[in-house]
Parts: sequence; C-alpha cells; structure tokens
Amino acid sequence: MRQKIVAGNWKMNNDKQETKTLIEDVKTEIENLSLENTRVIVAPSFVNLESAVNLAEGSSIEVVAQNMHQAKSGAYTGEISADMLKSIGIKSVILGHSERRTYFGETDELLAEKVNAVLENDLETIFCFGELLEDRKSDNHFNVVESQLKNALFHLEAKDWSSIVLAYEPVWAIGTGETASPEQAQEMHAFIRSIVEKQYNKEVADNVSILYGGSVKPANAEEIFSKPDVDGGLIGGAALKASDFSAIIKAI
Ligand code: 13P
Repeated sequence: MRQKIVAGNWKMNNDKQETKTLIEDVKTEIENLSLENTRVIVAPSFVNLESAVNLAEGSSIEVVAQNMHQAKSGAYTGEISADMLKSIGIKSVILGHSERRTYFGETDELLAEKVNAVLENDLETIFCFGELLEDRKSDNHFNVVESQLKNALFHLEAKDWSSIVLAYEPVWAIGTGETASPEQAQEMHAFIRSIVEKQYNKEVADNVSILYGGSVKPANAEEIFSKPDVDGGLIGGAALKASDFSAIIKAI
C-alpha cells in the first residue's frame, strides 16, 4: 500500500533559532496523532539540517534535504554531496523543484543525473515537476508533465521506484495563492499514474506516492487530499507555521 506523505519545503526560510522553534512546535502539535501509514517530512536549509535531524530524533518527523549535487566530491564550490547528507543522517532529497529549474537552470537531463546519484547512494528522492501557466492555457500540460517524467525518471528500472516519491507542482500554483482545484489535481495525478503504469507496470504505479504542491493551506487540504490519486502534499508557505502545517497533517 502506498504511503501518505505531508512534506514541508521550507525553501530559504528559518535561521537556526527559527528552525529549532518550528521543529519543536510541530513535534508538540503532532505528538498525539496516530500517523498510520503517513509520513511527516520537513526540508530545512542545508545550514540547519544537522540540528534539525537532532531535534527531530525520537519524533515522527523526518528531515530531508532540498537539493543535492550529482558528483561524489570535488571542485564544485557551494555544493553538497550525497555522502555529506548521509553522514548527518539524511535519507531523502527533494529534486527538481521549479525554483531550482527556473532560477538555477536545472534541466531534465541534469535532474536525471541527480536522480541516478540519489539511487546509487541508497537515498530516496521527492521528485518535483509541473507545468507553467502558459502550458496549461495552451492545453499542453499533460505533454509537459509526461516529458519531464520521461526525461528525468523513465530510464530507471522498476525496482528503483521504491525510492521515488513524485510531487506534482503546477508552477502557476506555487506561492500564488491559486491552487489547482481538487479535480485538476486528481485529473493530473491519475494521468501520471497511468503513464507510470504504461512505462513499468501496475504494481509500480499503485505503489508510488504522488504528492500535490502549490498553495496547499489548512482550508483546502482536506478536499485535495480526499482525491484517490492524491497521496499527500508538498507544502511551502503553510509549512512555516506549526499550527498550519499540523492542520494540514491532520487533514490527511
Ligand atoms: P506554496 O505552498 O508556498 O505554494 O509552495 C509550494 C511549493 O513550492 C512546495 O515545494
């Protein structure tokens, strides 16, 4: 049975003290919840990652990284390797976020290399993708999503998919307050599951968790999560407030 996941992508927010406060507050908010088959994830900045791992220890919160370099080590100023992440207890990495694609020029081809590095290191990836507003307006959103998955993930073998979580984030819904309707999310998630099944098999498609991201808030989470192919959310702004994030966790 595929897992439900609520993941908070903190992006470039929260200093050391704010990281501590937010993790502790989320811990308190969720300590009495029964989180059967549900994962709660936070992705703080690199600089606070190790302290976040330590703060989350013994709780249901998993700490993941927001990015990773594809090389093992070497002259890549400012970058972070899989070994570095593993050495502080990180087991999962967000890749392919639209902000990485837009502001840092990450292409599908580069992301395929990063995904390979994740798998070679026995890590998991929460792999983000999604169309631009112009793609949706021109009715090209299914093609865009299919090619993003094909270029970055469809070279993998079926067995690799136990280390893949998909996060569909339509770019027009990220940080805009404009959410995909539950019907739009379901339609795209069902399409994603169908192309994974076509490329691999039903078992892979049934087992992969597909998260929705883009302006998920306490007010809309329950309706989005009620859709059969939506297995949770990747949350930006609302993950920065413990009460909102925990309300979204409760919605699942
Ligand atoms: P918002 O929830 O702020 O729209 O951000 C979504 C996102 O980009 C999560 O990765």
